[in-house]
Amino acid sequence: MTFGRWYNRNLNKIWGFVEDRTAMKRWALRPQPEFTFKPSYWTGAFVANAFIYQVVSGMLLLLYYQPSTTTSATYSACGQAVGTLSPAPAAWCSTYYIIHSVPMGWLLLTTHLYGAYAMIFLVFLHFYRGYYLGAYKAPREFSWMVGTLLMVLTLGMGFTGYLLPYTQLSYNATNVGIVLALGLPKVGPLLGPFILADGTSQGLLSRMFDAHVLLLPLALGALLYAHIALFESHGIAPPATSDPLQRRRFTEKESKSHVPFMPHIVLYIGKWMLLYIGLLFAMAALWPWQLPTYVGNLAVAPAVTEPDWYFLWLFKLVDFYGVTPIIAVTLSTAILLYILFLPFLDRSKRTHPRDRPLFTWIGTSLLGFFVLMTVWGGETPAVQILPVGVLTTLGPVFLVNGVAVGLFHWRYVRQYRRRLAARGSSFAGIHPVARVPSASPASMTEAKSSD
Ligand code: HEM
Repeated sequence: MTFGRWYNRNLNKIWGFVEDRTAMKRWALRPQPEFTFKPSYWTGAFVANAFIYQVVSGMLLLLYYQPSTTTSATYSACGQAVGTLSPAPAAWCSTYYIIHSVPMGWLLLTTHLYGAYAMIFLVFLHFYRGYYLGAYKAPREFSWMVGTLLMVLTLGMGFTGYLLPYTQLSYNATNVGIVLALGLPKVGPLLGPFILADGTSQGLLSRMFDAHVLLLPLALGALLYAHIALFESHGIAPPATSDPLQRRRFTEKESKSHVPFMPHIVLYIGKWMLLYIGLLFAMAALWPWQLPTYVGNLAVAPAVTEPDWYFLWLFKLVDFYGVTPIIAVTLSTAILLYILFLPFLDRSKRTHPRDRPLFTWIGTSLLGFFVLMTVWGGETPAVQILPVGVLTTLGPVFLVNGVAVGLFHWRYVRQYRRRLAARGSSFAGIHPVARVPSASPASMTEAKSSD
């Protein structure tokens, strides 16, 4: 017997034993169609993996971190250790301790930080995939809305975590963020006491800490449970198509004949999870995070206030001439409401982006806007921009996108009409993609390959 066969036989035996004793299949999600063995179908699972890594690494960091602004004797020694005169607060000092004294602490802290960046990037990726492929369309409207809240919570995790090392840079940026949040019409004044507590620095740090390690992760976990429960009840979204008659769910019988979630899909996702952790550690080892100076050490603190990259666009917005915090926060709320209610704004039955030129244009323009504003915010933080500068820089993003999407749509409609005419078909209005009247997994796959 070859080693491969011997290995597989024993693995099957062990798996059979575990399955028999745990009835694991019953806890697993429903089986999935064969065509889902592609990373693009599991972007949400990658975000969930990233979240799990953040929870585990965050719990380890909690063993050492102290959410306190006091400068005890021990910690003032820590301030002097880095060659400064003023004593350092405990929050900063415990972070310094993690980096310099805890074995592999620097690696743990850096992977937690880069893991947060990766999670935010993956959330955007998952969001944009769903946006372009029309995953928000019926019956997945609530999956989309819960997802939007998850995105807000993820950004909230980033915001609250930024203050915890208690550096002058993060302290200033958090204060700008708070001014923006309090500027929210009606909601802002209500948020005030929740964020600021008793108005002291300790009150603020404690609130950020509580939100970061308890409230937001709990809310995220609960919403994630709802998000996955909704995913389970609808099944995975079929590939995007121009066919308005495409069924958007598999029947129970079809689902049963798909690939089992446990162990096949779980192992597939697990493989990507291992790659993710490997990459995170490699990046952290190559570029360990450098702790900026602490709150109060103004002599060496940077003059310009900068948030983490995912909020740079918002900071740049406030640099625009005439844009007050209230205008900036109202605009971001409008974008958020657009995303939240998108399933009810885009009512067409077709999921392919080429059939939804208006929404494709809005999505692509928003993407261009965020990327450009982020780069701009990073390159020229706190530099005021006059209206002419805003118009000549942002205008082309919306204009070029509009022309490109318009041209693509016009060409698509023309080619489609020509094809219809050549066929002499009276089947107007529907792209001749493989339709799925009694969608078998195979016909769903067919619909995809013809897109
Ligand atoms: C913390 C953030 C999030 C997590 C952990 C998460 C997790 C997941 C998971 C595990 C799935 C199952 C399919 C897959 O793996 O892609 C899923 C599906 C889905 N998610 Fe998310 N998600 C998050 C944020 C979002 C956001 C921001 C949106 C959109 C606004 C969204 C919309 C959807 C939709 C529409 C589906 C169904 C897609 C399908 O059936 O293929 N999710 N999500």
